[in-house]
Amino acid sequence: MSVTVRGKVSAKSSGNCLDMLFGINIEHMGRTVYGGIYEGESEYCDAQGFRKDVLDALKDMKLSCIRYPGGNFVSGYHWRDGIGPIEERPVKLNIAWKQVEPNKVGLHEIADYAERLGTQLLMNFNLGSADIQESLDLFEYTNFPGETTLTRQRKKNGREKPFSIRYWGLGNEMDGRWQICNMEAEQYAKKAKELARLVKLIDPEAKLILVGSSKPLLKTFGMWDKTVLDIAYEQVDFLSMHSYFDCPDYFVYKNKSIKEYIGVYAEIQKNIDLIAAIIRETKLRKKSKHDVFISFDEWNVWHRDPRFINENRFSGSKEWLASDARIECVYDFKDVILYANMINTLIRNSDVVKLACVCQAVNCIAPILAYPNGKMVKQTVYYPYWFAGNYLKGEYVPVDYSSDTIHSESFGDYEQVNIISTENGNIRAVLAVNNSETEEVSVELSFPEILERNFAQIMKNAPEAVNSTENPEEVIPKDFSVNVLKNKVCFTLPAFSVAMLAFKKK
Ligand code: AHR
Repeated sequence: MSVTVRGKVSAKSSGNCLDMLFGINIEHMGRTVYGGIYEGESEYCDAQGFRKDVLDALKDMKLSCIRYPGGNFVSGYHWRDGIGPIEERPVKLNIAWKQVEPNKVGLHEIADYAERLGTQLLMNFNLGSADIQESLDLFEYTNFPGETTLTRQRKKNGREKPFSIRYWGLGNEMDGRWQICNMEAEQYAKKAKELARLVKLIDPEAKLILVGSSKPLLKTFGMWDKTVLDIAYEQVDFLSMHSYFDCPDYFVYKNKSIKEYIGVYAEIQKNIDLIAAIIRETKLRKKSKHDVFISFDEWNVWHRDPRFINENRFSGSKEWLASDARIECVYDFKDVILYANMINTLIRNSDVVKLACVCQAVNCIAPILAYPNGKMVKQTVYYPYWFAGNYLKGEYVPVDYSSDTIHSESFGDYEQVNIISTENGNIRAVLAVNNSETEEVSVELSFPEILERNFAQIMKNAPEAVNSTENPEEVIPKDFSVNVLKNKVCFTLPAFSVAMLAFKKK
């Protein structure tokens, strides 16, 4: 059976910029840094010790930023341990992940890495075990243009010019009892507010991210956000949101259907609506002229089902090691559909969500798996994120269309066909998802101007299909046929598929 969806791409862009929506986390966790991006002396690495294949794969993703050094890790991390001659750096415990931290990768190495990827750093402060002075010292070291003892030390360590890092996190998930030195909302907000005030004295252009609720499942979801915003609203620019799909509470061992699995993205929309409403309410109540946006700086599918986790493939050890597998999820084609819906959700909400990052980059809940024997796998979900980074830039442009809905017991109704469009200079792009497992859809989209085809690829596989070292290209995008008739574009979306299209304005 086939239905037709007709849509009209607006002549007027929303004006909402998408350039910071497709970042990634690189946390000192599992084999993300050691055994992921970095492998020291290995034959697969460059002179700086970074895996060449991983670097190329990340570079191709055209990432908006790298959020570093965590995640939970940051709340126990002291940045001075990661600067200066590598052989003199201390070996410390990484308590967050029960690992050992050799400090071979620190600020300078990751900043160089970000530059090589053609992206920027989003640095996170330690608001857990570090005091405010330690964070201010880090900011002075990285961003202060003048001559001080700290900036002299930076120069001695090889960076003549400041790193000029614009985006800064004021800690991570401080509401979580798993967080090192976790706090009550008031206590956290007062510390974050003071740090923010002092950082902005040094550099008013710094963009600061206040820690929001760490997950929607917590009883304090929303309340924490209201309290911290109430205290620190004027000093910050963003409030963070985090979400991992496939939490045990939803799916594991319950053998739910695919539509229950995909439907979680409708829940994300409700969560964004709630947090956006709290931000708006705070602004109105305070009669503020200042805006705060959402930084969705951790999201991903996180399979808890052991069938999807390559945990302990390498050591299986109970010892604390520098490079040890943690949560190495294997992603299948269902996850591609979920990623595409999440990407569309971020774009559709780009009036309030201005920054977002998948978590993490390599091995640990990541789109890339790197093995010690030099093999690397781009997982299924690498590709929708590659689409986004390469094509969904510029501004969001609304599309007027209507779609049937699919009903999920757990999350309510969600769109069968999910379409967004973007405009970047003379390129128009469309990401279209068909969430139905059975129904093919014909799509007809009209645009305000005459177009010519630039790029068209589709992803369509069995829901459980995965990429592996034996079969690394089982799930990859394929070229796709689109009819372009002046300002009208027609294509067929097979059941359960994702299409990425780009056109040049004539
Ligand atoms: O991404 C893994 C962890 O998940 C992060 O360290 C933390 O912020 C979140 O709970």
